[in-house]
Amino acid sequence: MILANDFKREDTYIGPAIRRAIDRVLSSGWYVLGKEVDAFEHAFADFNEVEHAIGVASGTDALSVALAALGIGVGDEVITSALTAFPTITGISRVGATPVAVDVHPHTGLINPDCIRAAITKNTKAIIPVHLYGKMCDMPAIMQIAAEYGLKIVEDCAQSVGASYEGRLAGSWGDAAAFSFYPTKNLGAYGDGGAVVTNNEVVASRARQLRDYGQDKKFSHLEVGFNSRLDELQAAVLSEKLDYLTEWNNRRRSIAKRYDELLEYGTVLHESRHDEHAFHLYVVTVKNRDKVLHAMRDFGIQCQVHYPKSIDLQPGYLQVAPKNAPKCPEADALTKSIISLPIFPYLTDQEVDTVIGHFNQVVAHVG
Ligand SMILES: Cc1ncc(COP(=O)(O)O)c(C=O)c1O
Repeated sequence: MILANDFKREDTYIGPAIRRAIDRVLSSGWYVLGKEVDAFEHAFADFNEVEHAIGVASGTDALSVALAALGIGVGDEVITSALTAFPTITGISRVGATPVAVDVHPHTGLINPDCIRAAITKNTKAIIPVHLYGKMCDMPAIMQIAAEYGLKIVEDCAQSVGASYEGRLAGSWGDAAAFSFYPTKNLGAYGDGGAVVTNNEVVASRARQLRDYGQDKKFSHLEVGFNSRLDELQAAVLSEKLDYLTEWNNRRRSIAKRYDELLEYGTVLHESRHDEHAFHLYVVTVKNRDKVLHAMRDFGIQCQVHYPKSIDLQPGYLQVAPKNAPKCPEADALTKSIISLPIFPYLTDQEVDTVIGHFNQVVAHVG
């Protein structure tokens, strides 16, 4: 069976170093917000070429903390993409703001700047561009809209650590950015984790306060805040893994290049600038997606769908969306044709060829 992700392989390579890091934390006697979190935050900020990184409990919390740190809350509308993981919506809603999902570009699946513009109201306060699959949104166009309307930008970088656009890294464009360290991510913890990054000193210190019950120092609570802290164990794991991230992202890029070279049918949702794409996922559109998915499974290859339903059709979104929320036909159409092929750093060359060989054969038969 070729899995979409096989974490046990990673363990055979880096397990000993990870176990040493875990031991180090266990024997330190300090488990929340200590030296490990501090060291990881500095290393992660450096990696992303930003001033500050603040470790939190998940990518969803990173979105909420970033929005709250920018003063966004009840009564404010936040525009985001209709093709994203649902937690983007959870992160907005948890601060009391109203999520507004807008349509995507059919050739990339990324938020369409024209649709952002069309959805702006007097209540709009922020945009969350989602760098889906590891490919960055059209940030110059989005920055231009934000500047025109005085909106904040929080980049959703859950899938895009190490991606760039015109040489500038994901997370370094907006007022703040949110990263996820969910195990499947390009930089995954061994549990949940996330980070807010920003170049703004004021936003950074408010985010630090917010993640820790709103306290600026022990027993001084300036606001209610959250309990959302990256723990020492996950920070130690992440510091070890951060050293491999560039190598792993490059391996993802070379797998994608091989898929591109051999792909005979279907259309990819990325252009050829592999160096800028983090290839969290390798996504192709095909006509008979469900048939292809099942036929691949019969060959022992686990393909996935990210995502089978667009946000504008999710009941959870409709409970919190504005009454006249935009329709998103391009996102809806994509959810019926997209399929994600296995891609992770320890996939072997032989497996890559097996996957694409079967994929070509299957699509030739079922479309
Ligand atoms: C695009 C996107 N945004 C936000 C999140 C939320 O991250 P987490 O699962 O760490 O809360 C995820 C991950 O599931 C994601 O893929």
